[in-house]
Amino acid sequence: MPRTPMFSEPLHVGRPNVGDRDRLLRLINDALDRLWLTNNGPLVREFEEKVAERAGTRHCVAVANATSGMQIAATAAGVRPGQEVIIPAFTWIATPHAMEWAGMVPVFCDVDEESGTIDPEHAEKLIGPRTGGILGVHVYGRPCPVDELTDLAGRHGLSLLFDAAHAFGNTYRQRPVGGFGTAEVFSFHATKFVNSFEGGAIVTNDDGLAERARALHHLGLGPGREIVSRGTNARMSEIHAAMGLVSLEITDELMEVNRRNEQWYRDGLAGLPGVTVRPQAPGERANRQYVVIDVDERAAGVHRDAVHDALHENNVLSRRYFHPGCHLSEPYRAAPAVHAPLPLPVTEALTERVLALPSGTAVGSVEIAGVCEIIARTVTGPRGV
Ligand SMILES: Cc1ncc(COP(=O)(O)O)c(C=O)c1O
Repeated sequence: MPRTPMFSEPLHVGRPNVGDRDRLLRLINDALDRLWLTNNGPLVREFEEKVAERAGTRHCVAVANATSGMQIAATAAGVRPGQEVIIPAFTWIATPHAMEWAGMVPVFCDVDEESGTIDPEHAEKLIGPRTGGILGVHVYGRPCPVDELTDLAGRHGLSLLFDAAHAFGNTYRQRPVGGFGTAEVFSFHATKFVNSFEGGAIVTNDDGLAERARALHHLGLGPGREIVSRGTNARMSEIHAAMGLVSLEITDELMEVNRRNEQWYRDGLAGLPGVTVRPQAPGERANRQYVVIDVDERAAGVHRDAVHDALHENNVLSRRYFHPGCHLSEPYRAAPAVHAPLPLPVTEALTERVLALPSGTAVGSVEIAGVCEIIARTVTGPRGV
């Protein structure tokens, strides 16, 4: 007979955090009164200013989502269709798909085991005559080795972009994520730390890139509505910006909630063989929107998937972020010589070990204690192998 799950309602990873609902509705009402609903409206402009201020950048172009933001950023940076872009295989499929959709060729690189971010030495081995850029990912908000990558990109004359979907509000060497490389791209998807229902932003200190990106996201229209380039429609609407503005107001509070949740997980899982909470960069500010555990099968006695299954049986909807490596997903796995010319052992090991657990305002100490109890009941220790 199936056992009663520990939780009657599902616990999700990335349950949206919503700010002040009255203020949101007021902002939406104002937009309706103005009848200015999209096309660079006042709420979008205010949101862009606030994002740029937090990211410490001269420019911000708000976009419909991070996926289109990355397509636009790479194009605006001058990466051409047919050119290769080096991307870590340990990321969400949105990162390579964005490049592939823009006609560029994702070439997968391995990652550093401790941080899960792109390994610059491995990236260098993949640089060839067709390489146009490097697209690092601040995985779980943990910044890439920005200095090493900046040096590498500089030596080879490549564009350096960052997928900062997870990293809004985080720092690298005490400087905010956003101003590194040629451009960085945030996601404001409903599950993210800052949430505009759907949304994203390209941030940069490069005046020319910002101007090109602004035109590209608005069907190639320049400031005077003249057509200055090709383009797509990746505009953010006023309703999305209203949600983003309200969300920006609770980031300090949310950081504290996430910090506390992560600590409860650390305390609840302490001493369990083979289970560790993956750390953020020491000494840096981190939004901690993802709490990710690493299950070492040899020490835990069970594979990560057994823990994942046990959690799901109890209505805890853990996510295998990221599994499998992007190089093993379509369409890339069909052409390994093109997309994964070198072995990716660290990525392949990590994708078998990581598991994202519910966090954010939807969970508290009671839920986290329950999640830890399920994990503790599942892990057997080394003798179970
Ligand atoms: C690492 C990473 N990059 C990009 C994206 C795509 O963001 P969006 O949904 O805003 O296009 C996500 C979304 O989950 C992500 O996790």
